Amino acid sequence: MKIAVLPGDGIGTEIVAEAIRVLDTLDLSFEMETALVGGAAYEAHGHPLPEATLKLAKESDAVLFGAVGDWKYDKLERSLRPEQAILGLRKNLGLFANFRPAICYEQLVGASSLKPELIAGLDILIIRELTGDIYFGAPRGRRTAVDGHFPGAEEAFDTMRYSRPEVERIAHVAFQAARKRSKRVTSVDKANVLETFQFWKDVVTEVGKEYPDVELDHMYVDNAAMQLVKAPKKFDVVVTGNMFGDILSDEAAMLTGSIGMLPSASLNASNQGLYEPSHGSAPDIAGQGIANPLATILSAAMMLRFSLNQPEAADRIESAVKSVLARGLRTADIWSAGTTKVGTREMGDAVVAAITKKTITG
Ligand code: IPM
Ligand code: MG
Repeated sequence: MKIAVLPGDGIGTEIVAEAIRVLDTLDLSFEMETALVGGAAYEAHGHPLPEATLKLAKESDAVLFGAVGDWKYDKLERSLRPEQAILGLRKNLGLFANFRPAICYEQLVGASSLKPELIAGLDILIIRELTGDIYFGAPRGRRTAVDGHFPGAEEAFDTMRYSRPEVERIAHVAFQAARKRSKRVTSVDKANVLETFQFWKDVVTEVGKEYPDVELDHMYVDNAAMQLVKAPKKFDVVVTGNMFGDILSDEAAMLTGSIGMLPSASLNASNQGLYEPSHGSAPDIAGQGIANPLATILSAAMMLRFSLNQPEAADRIESAVKSVLARGLRTADIWSAGTTKVGTREMGDAVVAAITKKTITG
């Protein structure tokens, strides 16, 4: 088994380092190889996703990814910006199924901007289609770009597009995930305005007939955005397109109060996957040793479960994280009065210690 480790930019290197220490504690036998990606790769090789990095990712069973991006690259031509690295990895590895759980940890209820009763016990799974939609439809403005912008352009457009197989396969992923949970799927669209999403809705409905045990409902994206803050617990599995999923998953993550806690997985048809925290590179706090490594550590757990077939090891990481929270340790992003503030490294130490202790005491 081989893991490609791509820490990236900003806090990426700090948080990935802690996840690696946690993986090392588990004494599993896999090979890990690190490569540059994002702004870091641009600085060194002139491209955010160098050939060698892509090759390493392709030949690995899983990719552990930190984060990419920094405002200082906003002036670069679009194809050279750090974000292109993650888009390129998704497309080249065919990582069409993005799992973004939004879970409210019991101890962090107070960190949410919503009232505790609205989010206590919240456990939503957003399944975002990741390689289609307007993200990958032909853009027009690109031809006249100067320094990544379009001076004097009269118009610009990107094309929203989905094919039947693309919608079918993500719908199957959602229905199958729902079977392991509460057997409910909400498909989010904008069928009242966009043809692409009427098509999406029709195809999801057809696929749903193969899953008579799963309840399917449909919701327009604007209403879904509203319901997420009004009554988030009404949702269980949410399946949607690339762009709506981008927006709704940030919304759902933030309302748990725990965006620094939330992992994500992006899988292709052969369960090869890329695992990354749901948050970004946070250049404003990079290098200070205060970032929360738990989302990345939990992403490593997802990696063990989904791509490396090590479910027990994944359980050990997850229970170690819970015990560390129960002890009252908090990084700055989830800190509240009465808890103990720790830095990135100390949080990693605590998870490592919790795993080691469990190993010794059984
Ligand atoms: C995400 C991010 C990316 C996206 C960016 C960095 C390209 O926001 O993973 O949600 O828009 O998909
Ligand atoms: Mg996003």
